[in-house]
Amino acid sequence: MSTLVKGGTIVTAGDTYEADILIDNGIIALIGNFLEAQVDQVIDASGSYVLPGAIDVHTHLELSVSGTVSSDDFYTGTVAAACGGTTTIIDYADQMRGEPLAKGLEARLAAARGKAVIDYGFHLVLTDYNARVAGEMAEVVSAGVSSFKCFLAYKGRSMIDDGTLLVLLSRSKEIGALTCVHCENGEVIDVLTRKLLSEGKTSTRYHPKSRPPEVEAEATGRAIALAEMALAPVYIVHLTTAQSLEKVRAARARGLTVYAETCPQYLLLSADKYDEPGFEAAKYVMSPPLRPRSHQGALWTGLGNGDIQVVATDHCPFNFKEQKELGREDFSRIPNGAPGIETRLYLLYTEGVAKGRISLNRFVDLVATAPAKLFGLYPKKGTIAVGSDADLVVWDPKVRHVLSVETLHQNVDYDPYEGFEAMGKPTVVMSRGKVIAKNGTFLGQAGTGAFLRRKPYPGVI
Ligand code: URP
Ligand code: ZN
Ligand code: ZN
Repeated sequence: MSTLVKGGTIVTAGDTYEADILIDNGIIALIGNFLEAQVDQVIDASGSYVLPGAIDVHTHLELSVSGTVSSDDFYTGTVAAACGGTTTIIDYADQMRGEPLAKGLEARLAAARGKAVIDYGFHLVLTDYNARVAGEMAEVVSAGVSSFKCFLAYKGRSMIDDGTLLVLLSRSKEIGALTCVHCENGEVIDVLTRKLLSEGKTSTRYHPKSRPPEVEAEATGRAIALAEMALAPVYIVHLTTAQSLEKVRAARARGLTVYAETCPQYLLLSADKYDEPGFEAAKYVMSPPLRPRSHQGALWTGLGNGDIQVVATDHCPFNFKEQKELGREDFSRIPNGAPGIETRLYLLYTEGVAKGRISLNRFVDLVATAPAKLFGLYPKKGTIAVGSDADLVVWDPKVRHVLSVETLHQNVDYDPYEGFEAMGKPTVVMSRGKVIAKNGTFLGQAGTGAFLRRKPYPGVI
């Protein structure tokens, strides 16, 4: 199968230029001006940008939590991703207590197989550490899982202690893996939550009170301190506050290898959502919670100046009906998370690029190139270059559209951005040379996504 993408403006993290792209067997074969070739299909990209397919390194498809399962599976979630211009995800596999790490990985490979419509990888979530686990960590890195995730929150479930984080960081460094950390102080959240509930403060508005910004800043500082002691790199997931960002900025200024990710919900939505009447606020119950609008300026500055390297989604959808409702009487029982796998590019392009807060090249870096580099996918993914996979997004910056649960593909009964007027839309999305979405219509097939064996963490990017 061969394709010519003609007349578009190619945008990478470093360049913007007009050129055609010749694709052969799913790989970019040639980039140049006025290319002519006998091909199976020609895609007219004139008037549009041609971007590398976006990579979302923080998703939770089919996540079992709080007695329920996130509502997008590997089919619906990846269809939604594809329609929004994301052609690769990295989701999570869990260590199963007392079991080999491979077992947790196999369970997630089985969940994705036959369903995923775009390529995928996994981070491995670690909760226990011992000599056997240390050995198996090296095995999973060899199997293409070159990042681990751990939690300083969720006491009694996935939370680990500082000693465990220290040894995990150190072992990950030794074997070429990057450690991702959810930074919130789980002990403090536990105390605050129990206090609020014992005072009868059970409604959704108390969710952010149970995990204030200081809880995140403390844990972010601690993760960085432990990474420094372990002489290891660390990747902070879903950073939300000015204080946490300041810890990252200061660490990077001292030469430490600290990376930070934020998500569109923390850039666009704010804590006033928790004042919505009735149970509406449950739609925004996620961890960390939405913050006062005053934090957003710092986050945008961090995206622009490089202190934040990645915008991912933390896509973790639960239906308002029956799933979020599990916590009607007790905010701590509301399944945490919100949808976003499909809307990331719309939101970041509209609020970031179109409003002049970040450049188009920086946009590409944040959603595709930096994630590919950090998580061992570059240059196969995350850029447009000869030899790279032809994961491409033809992005028409002139299209204006309104986000609505009625037209989005995410399998969930609400959208946090309902009514948002977006600028720019993918008219064509290609995964390894195949057109999988056109103008918001999915054209691919279940099971065509492949598991990506990622390379080890490459060192400072
Ligand atoms: O609320 C969230 N973020 N749910 C998903 C799990 C996590 O902590 O990332
Ligand atoms: Zn998290
Ligand atoms: Zn998450």
